[in-house]
Amino acid sequence: MSTGRPEIVDRLQEATRWLHAETEEVAAVVEGGRERYLWFIARQYGFTAPLEPRIAAAPGIEAVGLDLERRRRAHLFAADLLHFGIHPGRLPRCEALPRVDSAARALGVLYVLEGSTLGGAFLLAHLGRTLGISPTAGASGLAPYGHALREMWVAYADALDGFVRAAPGSADEVIDAARETFERMIGWLREPAAALSAAARA
Ligand code: HEM
Repeated sequence: MSTGRPEIVDRLQEATRWLHAETEEVAAVVEGGRERYLWFIARQYGFTAPLEPRIAAAPGIEAVGLDLERRRRAHLFAADLLHFGIHPGRLPRCEALPRVDSAARALGVLYVLEGSTLGGAFLLAHLGRTLGISPTAGASGLAPYGHALREMWVAYADALDGFVRAAPGSADEVIDAARETFERMIGWLREPAAALSAAARA
């Protein structure tokens, strides 16, 4: 396993920098308190639950050799919601998802989802004390890999690097899918926030 950061990851970060900033701004979860955190994980659940099966079904993604099962997080967000008495099955799911019809696009979508585990560690560090959440109490989705966080990120980055080197023309497709994923996430976060309806809490 290499430890250097592949060029393609730098390109992805550069191409999505302002979209990440916009995501953070729209999410407004860092200073948002408990209700905002619950809304945030409800939205993460509603985005990842329908998207993860599409990633796994993308033509050619299996050959990339990533352990996609381990990288799923919707069930963790679901467990976190249940911890707070919210029924994930009654929550809305995003229908305006990014297109995932090739391995290159799946890897671009995964850049956004896997990268958000890095942001998750930051969020947990900030919210842990104030909200009384931890990986075993309502925040498993923010810390899906425990101490293996960096290892999982580097393994993803290496797999992506290998893929793009083998098919140089694919880089633009990866970047396009990452951009689309951020845009769809932002659209989903912008939808009117009556997400935690009475039905979901009942
Ligand atoms: C809402 C509050 C968020 C905060 C405060 C936040 C913060 C951060 C921070 C501090 C990093 C850098 C971590 C590191 O390098 O160790 C990061 C990386 C990243 N975050 Fe976020 N994040 C947030 C939400 C999200 C969301 C919702 C997504 C997408 C679903 C996302 C996608 C990413 C990606 C792709 C990276 C990796 C960038 C790279 O290194 O190439 N973040 N985030």
